[in-house]
Amino acid sequence: MAVAVALVPRISSLLHWIAFLTLVLNLSFSVAVKHDNFKTCDQSGFCKRNRAFADAVAASSPPYLYQISPESATFANGQFQATVSKTIADGAIVQLPLNVTFLKSSLARVELDEERRRTGDIELRHGSEARKERYNESPAWALVGGLDVDVSAKLSEKGKKGVTTIQFGENQRFTAIIRHAPFSIDFQRDGDTQVMFNHRGFLNIEHWRQKVEKEESVEESVEKAAEKPGAEDESTWWEESFGGNTDTKPKGPESIALDISFPGFENVFGIPEHTGPLSLRQTRGGSQDDFTDPYRLYNSDVFEYELNSPMTLYGAIPFMQAHKKDSSVGVLWLNAAETWIDITKKKRSGRKLDTDTHWISESGILDVFIFLGPKPQDLTKALAVLTGNTQLPQQFSVGYHQCRWNYMSDEEVKEVDAKFDKHGIPYDVIWLDLEYTDDRKYFTWDMDKFQNPVAMHAQLDVTHRKVVTLIDPHIKNTANYPVVDELKKRDLTIKNKDGDTYEGWCWPGSSHWIDCFNPTARAWWTTLFKPDFWKYSTYNTYIWNDMNEPSVFNGPETTMPKDNLHHGNWEHRDVHNINGMTFVNATYHALLDRQPKKPHRPFTLTRSFYAGSQRLGAMWTGDNLAEWGHLEASLPMILSLNIAGFPNSGADVGGFFGTPSSELLTRWMQAGAFYPFFRAHAHIDTRRREPYVAGPPYTGIMTQAIRLRYQLLPVWYTAFHEASMDNSPILRPQYYVHPDDEAGFSMDDQFYVGSTGLLVKPVTKEGATSADVYFADDEVYYDYFDYTIYSKKGFKTVDAPLNKIPVFARGGHVIPRKDRPRRSSHLMQYDPITLMVVLDKAGNAEGSLYVDDGETFDYESGAQIFAKFVFDKESSSLTSQDIATTGSMTKSYRQEMSKVRVEKVIVIGAPSHWTDKKHITAEQDSKKFEAEMQFHPASGNKAAWAVVRDPGVSIAKDWKISFA
Ligand code: NOJ
Repeated sequence: MAVAVALVPRISSLLHWIAFLTLVLNLSFSVAVKHDNFKTCDQSGFCKRNRAFADAVAASSPPYLYQISPESATFANGQFQATVSKTIADGAIVQLPLNVTFLKSSLARVELDEERRRTGDIELRHGSEARKERYNESPAWALVGGLDVDVSAKLSEKGKKGVTTIQFGENQRFTAIIRHAPFSIDFQRDGDTQVMFNHRGFLNIEHWRQKVEKEESVEESVEKAAEKPGAEDESTWWEESFGGNTDTKPKGPESIALDISFPGFENVFGIPEHTGPLSLRQTRGGSQDDFTDPYRLYNSDVFEYELNSPMTLYGAIPFMQAHKKDSSVGVLWLNAAETWIDITKKKRSGRKLDTDTHWISESGILDVFIFLGPKPQDLTKALAVLTGNTQLPQQFSVGYHQCRWNYMSDEEVKEVDAKFDKHGIPYDVIWLDLEYTDDRKYFTWDMDKFQNPVAMHAQLDVTHRKVVTLIDPHIKNTANYPVVDELKKRDLTIKNKDGDTYEGWCWPGSSHWIDCFNPTARAWWTTLFKPDFWKYSTYNTYIWNDMNEPSVFNGPETTMPKDNLHHGNWEHRDVHNINGMTFVNATYHALLDRQPKKPHRPFTLTRSFYAGSQRLGAMWTGDNLAEWGHLEASLPMILSLNIAGFPNSGADVGGFFGTPSSELLTRWMQAGAFYPFFRAHAHIDTRRREPYVAGPPYTGIMTQAIRLRYQLLPVWYTAFHEASMDNSPILRPQYYVHPDDEAGFSMDDQFYVGSTGLLVKPVTKEGATSADVYFADDEVYYDYFDYTIYSKKGFKTVDAPLNKIPVFARGGHVIPRKDRPRRSSHLMQYDPITLMVVLDKAGNAEGSLYVDDGETFDYESGAQIFAKFVFDKESSSLTSQDIATTGSMTKSYRQEMSKVRVEKVIVIGAPSHWTDKKHITAEQDSKKFEAEMQFHPASGNKAAWAVVRDPGVSIAKDWKISFA
């Protein structure tokens, strides 16, 4: 890599600019991903070696390679410990320490390390200073809890010789059956095998070995390996070149691999980020629709990414869940190195399809958590205990975000802002991409273009709108830039393999990268966000962290050389997939520190992520295209993120590259109004497309979609609150809500919003005027807008002209709304609530509403309202009961919120005996009120509904409305 960097001519910044502009412009007119820039499994040495190893194992009887040394096995205090010995060619033994730990969180954890590397008893080549151990610090970044050991786990009496059987989990309903030779583990629930480790014998820990100098060429080595069955292909052990970059691999081959099978499970989900269906495809030996390369996790800036592909993208969550009727199980493969996952499905005797997976990582220890369900919700909860919950976002960030690359001046920002108001379109945030900076130096402003940022902020403040600005991890390597001077002086950069500050290319041209693995770097980063350092930033400026994979334009696969070094001398190879998270973590804490006396919740947006990143902010799916296919693909992508632990996700509305037709933009706006993170964005070369640009009828329809988002803000914020408590998905796929309905398992083009029963099927096809919606059960569903009844299980074609979003309310829910359109979410703070009571077939409904100040952490001291609503048919009443966590601020907050009243209750599916009812009685604080009710009888296939106006109750205290 050093060679490649040296080859980059050191040219003046003007030339840099020309080169980059040419690059950007050229690239923006090409239409597809450049496959040659990214490795296939065949081009990734360790992936190829492990696939070949698996083939060799599958072809013969499995070599007797891995076994537990009998004298080494112990079980005490919830942990099984042993040494797995790997017998290698000459009969020598490699020792692999094994821990199988049973956790109070009902999970099992399997860790396998390598003794020699662990004790540092190896030699590194090329004089490398890299750490000798296998990387074992992923938990420190990804995990926040769930590691308490379940000491009640016990050895089963029924153990056979050479098998250790351990029972664990609630009521000891889980069992781990550890076979000693060959080594394998089965995990059972209630006696049924759910997850199997190393059943196919693909476990492979590439042990450390001394390089033996050989005369043979790479080609000869490959040939030799091919000729001699069982021989290892050494051609990529010591060095690997790709795209003109050479990885020096000072530690030699060190991959880890394991097969994990899910017997009887036809569907597996998760391992974002990829395009393609939610239900993951086969990657070997499948049908034409399937893939031929494994799913890859190697965070990368993939330019113009393609659809329906196992190629890697910007982020990685190595969590997979397998689902079938009556069972959901899963694994978290806690490894931060480049990882490939093969998926195959097979029918074995007497069972439905089995899904077999093969996980292959380049380095690090083997560290896997096993989730035994049985419900999808159990997996979510357990994953949340491990990796944390969604950050409770600021209210403003749940609204609509207007972004483009770029709003070029403060005057332009003010103009866009004014136009939104002129057209009556609400929005909360305007974004500043790259070009607000002085010559791409972060923490500066281009004062020619942004001559008066203070006036700009002042205008936005009137409507409480915010600014989000871009801050990337590459720091321009230039003279007279205090940030880079300090970065270097304090020695806080990522280093090249020789231990010198790494230099590469990104937006600013020659750049250095801050190493956020280093606590000192994080502390320094914090100082840069203080308004006294970063002139013209305000406490209302929030941050977009882009390019944090990291993207390096002249690096291998557009990222950093793997032999670069991080804090603690860990090789970049070991930590790559965590790198992006460390950067946004630094930013999150910097924002937190900005107002130490009264911190506001940070808002960050990240492109790169890992398991645990949901604690720090939102993510988006990067540089998509303004094409219908990309709109369609955004849904499975966001659903996958939601079930894998990162609910606060969205895609660029309108598509980043290219110019969407007005129809596409309109449909995208409608879909985006149901993304948890709702932001329109566009490439610098594209035509302007703020929602007011298209004109009638599009602008009006887009306005309606954005207003719908604002009307439902209470629903979204409540869903975010739930996600902040147990990381429950905000968008829920069919299988998640109807886990026993097999017809819906692989569906990924419709979803539910939180626990509200709102079912949405965005239209993603050009020219469509109808949509085929699937209703999974015999419960009654109502069209959200006109209360048309759908009460039969199965597909139904519904009208969906351009101005209609297919949204349905499932019976049995109470949906809180705010019905007054305003310019921003803050201005709706004290607006009254409308409750939409959607009765189920039995005539009941339930729902909730979470409210707090939407900005600070006061909710932690009880400044919150969490109202639970119940409509009970029996008593014909709707009640609200506060179930919030109380604290020192509860009283004053409720006082403040007592002015927020319920202004309307709409009961959908209202019983016919209400026909002549004109009044209801409401009760709060032992006071009684009477309010008017209007009954609208059913007509045609539209449900009867009743509306109560101004029942006189506030949301701050419990109340009851009686319809009897
Ligand atoms: C790449 C990001 O994905 C895109 O959203 C952004 O506009 C450009 N970088 C420029 O900052």
